[in-house]
Amino acid sequence: MPVIALVGNKGGAGKTTLCVNLATAFASKSPTVILDADPQQSSLQWRGIADENAIIDVYEANHDVNQAYHNIGNQYTNCLIDCPPSVHSEQMQQALRIADLAIIPVQPSPLDIWATVHVESEVEAARKDNPNLKALLLINQFETRTQLSKIMRRALAELSLPAAETQVKRRAVYRNSFLEGRTVHDFGKRGAQASEEIHQLIQEMENHL
Ligand SMILES: Nc1ncnc2c1ncn2[C@@H]1O[C@H](COP(=O)(O)OP(=O)(O)OP(=O)(O)O)[C@@H](O)[C@H]1O
Ligand SMILES: [Mg+2]
Repeated sequence: MPVIALVGNKGGAGKTTLCVNLATAFASKSPTVILDADPQQSSLQWRGIADENAIIDVYEANHDVNQAYHNIGNQYTNCLIDCPPSVHSEQMQQALRIADLAIIPVQPSPLDIWATVHVESEVEAARKDNPNLKALLLINQFETRTQLSKIMRRALAELSLPAAETQVKRRAVYRNSFLEGRTVHDFGKRGAQASEEIHQLIQEMENHL
């Protein structure tokens, strides 16, 4: 079972948004679970307002990520872990040691890039225990017209971890869908471009798994 951890050192980078949208795309093909390792419990809150028939299970994992991971057994094909926004958190440390792939969303802002330097060193440290850990930086909330978005790729190239080709744009549908416990994949035409970029990201992730 591939384990994908959504990690970062900055609040609001988009970990939960991406976790839920990636997980529902995976779940349309095979059984998928989210372990919510963030004490804020945002993924669990989303699941709480989601339709009873939502195709995804979300479990609390903020007290002990390893235990939660062992508790889910082998009934799922994909497991995503939504982490708190700090490299010093025990939850993120644990998640990086069981993950196959860490996705690190970064917003187009110098503050976010600076904070990401610390994630790099944590990934390096985790590789001592988990040598097969892969990691991908991901530009989230990309805005075509802003100068910062334009220089973002060059700025990320200064870091040692690779950046995904796919960029996730800033789109209202990512916010609106959450309100209803849904995802961009349930929003027909309004969510089509967002859904397409999430599927493109999954294809790219699969090349790293
Ligand atoms: N691509 C996007 N387009 C528009 N809004 C987005 C996008 N990604 C995230 N957001 C919004 O940005 C805010 C922060 O996103 P989210 O809660 O997913 O980040 P997070 O990294 O999980 O935050 P935290 O560190 O607090 O857990 C939310 O309001 C979310 O709706
Ligand atoms: Mg979150």
